[in-house]
Amino acid sequence: MQIAKTLDELRNARQQFNEPIGFVPTMGFLHPGHLSLVKRVRLECSSVVVSIFINPAQFGPQEDLVDYPRDMGKDLALLKACGVDLVWAPKPETMYPGGYQTWVEVDRVSKPLEGARRPRHFRGVATVVAKLFNAVQPQKAYFGQKDAQQAVVIRQMVKDLNFPIDIVVCPLIREIDGLAMSSRNVYLNSNQRQAASVLYRALKKGQSSYESGERNAKKLREVIIKEIDAEPLTHRDYVSVAHPDTLVELDIIDQDALMSMAVYIGKTCLIDNFLLRNGNWHTGQLTGEPEG
Ligand code: PAF
Repeated sequence: MQIAKTLDELRNARQQFNEPIGFVPTMGFLHPGHLSLVKRVRLECSSVVVSIFINPAQFGPQEDLVDYPRDMGKDLALLKACGVDLVWAPKPETMYPGGYQTWVEVDRVSKPLEGARRPRHFRGVATVVAKLFNAVQPQKAYFGQKDAQQAVVIRQMVKDLNFPIDIVVCPLIREIDGLAMSSRNVYLNSNQRQAASVLYRALKKGQSSYESGERNAKKLREVIIKEIDAEPLTHRDYVSVAHPDTLVELDIIDQDALMSMAVYIGKTCLIDNFLLRNGNWHTGQLTGEPEG
């Protein structure tokens, strides 16, 4: 496995690779959710490139940039074991040289949900992903369904800017009690960690309500909210039942829908979602089980 830290090293290494090149952008502190993406690339592409870069531009001033968990040694060992060809770990000054002033803003789909709570977040994400795409020039790029809105923003950016890249969105991976895997779960103490499974339980309630025939999106939101509010350690940010491509809130669920939420437990904001597409629910994969 090669490790590139400069653009020259990346470009030299990239020239030797067979195509298609599959790419997984990450901020490191890898967990089984990231590794499921990497393993999928290994199966589907000739060469596997993973980036590790904690992108300052996607953190708000009060957010956890300084505390964001890191473990480069462990990440590299995990990636090597997955058969990765190249890790691209640029320095902040490579991605944002002095006097930096160019940004990618994806308009409507960046505004609701996470975008309402984190106003510059998706500008930072779209900008860094565009720069990573320009540097790596993959044919395929892989993202997790956990960050559902991020995947929508990236798809829109790729379409609008004519990037010749297929975006593949892979199932969310869950702990055994249903908590969606996230690098930020490490912030939870043991009481908070126990309480955190309420997000999954609440989504399950929403799903069963739909399956019992409920099609009124407001009623579904109410079912989810009731479950979350019954857990005293939670503080809700949003609960949404929206169209999965436009992220516009629905009144009636007559076709596809994205049920999503952001919930604070202590200072940690957790996000989760279930996706309804063509009559099938994509609820993620509990560790050790096929997608249900
Ligand atoms: O999902 C993430 O880890 C980040 O938002 C990404 C896509 C690597 C961009 O920094």
